[in-house]
Amino acid sequence: MNVHASALAKGQRPDPKSSAFAVDILEGLSKQPKQLSPKYFYDVAGSELFEQITVLPEYYPTRTELGILHDKGAEIAAILPKHAALIEFGAGATTKVRLLLEHAAFDAYVPVDISGEFLNAQASVLRKDFPDLQVHPVTADFSTPFELPEAIKAMPKVGFFPGSTIGNFEPHEACGFLRSARQILGPGALMLVGADLEKDERALHAAYNDAAGVTGRFNLNLLVRINRELGGNFDLSAFTHRAIYNRERHRIEMHLVSRKAQTVRILGRSFAFRTGETIHTENSYKYSLERFTALAKGSGWKPRASWTDADGLFSVHALVASE
Ligand code: AVI
Repeated sequence: MNVHASALAKGQRPDPKSSAFAVDILEGLSKQPKQLSPKYFYDVAGSELFEQITVLPEYYPTRTELGILHDKGAEIAAILPKHAALIEFGAGATTKVRLLLEHAAFDAYVPVDISGEFLNAQASVLRKDFPDLQVHPVTADFSTPFELPEAIKAMPKVGFFPGSTIGNFEPHEACGFLRSARQILGPGALMLVGADLEKDERALHAAYNDAAGVTGRFNLNLLVRINRELGGNFDLSAFTHRAIYNRERHRIEMHLVSRKAQTVRILGRSFAFRTGETIHTENSYKYSLERFTALAKGSGWKPRASWTDADGLFSVHALVASE
């Protein structure tokens, strides 16, 4: 049980000042330039907005990755070990994992996510649809080491990290994550990772500046969350969404831009903004096949195969733990 859950169990409210969220927000807004972690986008409203993003006409990654898993499913399944356990790092919608489960006969599925409630709901649906599959959800922060369930320890392991979530890590964090996944999965493991590819800048720009404004609402929801959970007084109409492609660093950058000079108060602290000053809220790195392969090699994995769609928009990589 975490600090907040145990405080709630005792009938106390958690102290907002001491939560990791509060500490990170106050620290991030004190930086120059101001910067917050994209992991805080995903409260209930943010997760719903993200689901809406995944079906936007301009947002190609989700449907393209699904297309690859569907079209190349048999090829992917052919290199996977039999009677394996599939360990998914972070558990979102079950659409992608279903494609793998349909193509390859796994004995067990282990979704790992920080939200236990979400995991259990997801697990019971999958148990119904795949009655022969053992489902062992693990509630953990998948970016740090955690124990695999005893029941799957003797099975061959296949890690799954779809969605180009790896692109939201800084390159050194992506390397740290892959090293930790290798440690958790053990020798001989295989790992399937989805990575978004570099492409025409107009397509990238459109994907993060959709006409319906959903990505803007997703970005601004971080300020809504700060207002609600930390008693902040951000005026939402005084900030706008901006997403730009940084060619030198191969990444989309999302920012919230202050439309005027203003001061915001959060938990008794004041943060001054100049007109046009931004809060940098997310990086979404875009890889070439070569740069992704180099990242994997430098992180304890041997690239085994990779698949892309016909337009070269997105990639799925199979990696084998190097000895
Ligand atoms: C979750 N992640 C891979 C998304 C991305 O494309 O970087 C998050 C996102 N941000 C804006 N739109 C989608």
